[in-house]
Amino acid sequence: NMSTKILGIETSCDETGVAVFDEQEGIIAQALYSQIDIHAEYGGVVPELASRDHIRKTALLTEQVMSEAGLTKQDIDGVAFTQGPGLIGALLVGSTFGRSLAYSWGCKAIGVHHMEGHLLAPMLEQNKPEFPFIALLVSGGHTQLVDVKDLGDYEILGESIDDAAGEAFDKTAKIMGLGYPGGPMLARLAEQGVAGRYKFPRPMTDRPGLDFSFSGLKTFAANTLRDCDGSEQALADIAYAFQEAVVDTLMIKCRRALKQTGRKQLVVAGGVSANVSLRNGLNDLMSKVNGKAFYPRPEFCTDNGAMIAYAGFCRYKLGQFESLAIKAKPRWPM
Ligand code: KG4
Ligand code: ZN
Repeated sequence: NMSTKILGIETSCDETGVAVFDEQEGIIAQALYSQIDIHAEYGGVVPELASRDHIRKTALLTEQVMSEAGLTKQDIDGVAFTQGPGLIGALLVGSTFGRSLAYSWGCKAIGVHHMEGHLLAPMLEQNKPEFPFIALLVSGGHTQLVDVKDLGDYEILGESIDDAAGEAFDKTAKIMGLGYPGGPMLARLAEQGVAGRYKFPRPMTDRPGLDFSFSGLKTFAANTLRDCDGSEQALADIAYAFQEAVVDTLMIKCRRALKQTGRKQLVVAGGVSANVSLRNGLNDLMSKVNGKAFYPRPEFCTDNGAMIAYAGFCRYKLGQFESLAIKAKPRWPM
């Protein structure tokens, strides 16, 4: 069988994800284990607990995915793993396991950049973009606007100077007592909110440039919360106004990036790209400028093994492989 098959392993944060990408068939098997229950009682990811749990799950999920795909080690052309950025201990589990697995199976090892995984995830859909395009990457750790000229040819146009968009969602949700992970919970509460009661700022939109700053919004939320009547409706209205401010700010910067580069396609990826209000806003924007927005399916917006298998496949085609030295890069510019 000549169709290239890549095993992908994601362990950069609090999900263990494993998948197989087949050049002809696409994703043929995948497994995802979320550590949410482990971290929930601490209100955030505890790095040491994350590493320890990845160790328990990675080989197990790999075995599961290989048998679900009906494959044996001879069928696999390369093992791709998230090499960074992320939590060092968590990354070391996937890098060490992935590199060693490739060594024992006698196939290629491919170190993948986590954000390139997110960026390429929409390529796994029927309705996919073509190079070049603008990518808005919005996750728990990053907020970036990227000019994607070609596979591997990326120019960062702007990024957050403090909190990432997902981080702002999570921190604001925590302040509001919504639990962990806060992003989706805050988004759900915002559905009950009424427009116009509160008005949050749109940080850094009053000056040129494509950088973001989201840390002020959580402070604004804390102050608004302190001064409100404490009712359920007030909380929902704060959630609404917060989300509206984040979405609006992201839209303003996307419009600018598209105008500056003349691109007509926008890829939106990373955990926050699952946000329905953001998708609605960006779809409107793209139809106004006669362009088109592309997203991963919701399950591939947040961390998963499929995007790492696919990004690994792309790097495999470019002939970019790892040496026998095991590397993990907690900070790694794309
Ligand atoms: O990409 P991801 O799974 O992990 C990182 O690479 O960081 O993103 C997780 C982030 C979290 O901050 C989470 O709260 C946020 O994505 N998130 C959302 C939604 N779903 C996930 N934020 C807002 N609305 C959502 N529906
Ligand atoms: Zn991620």
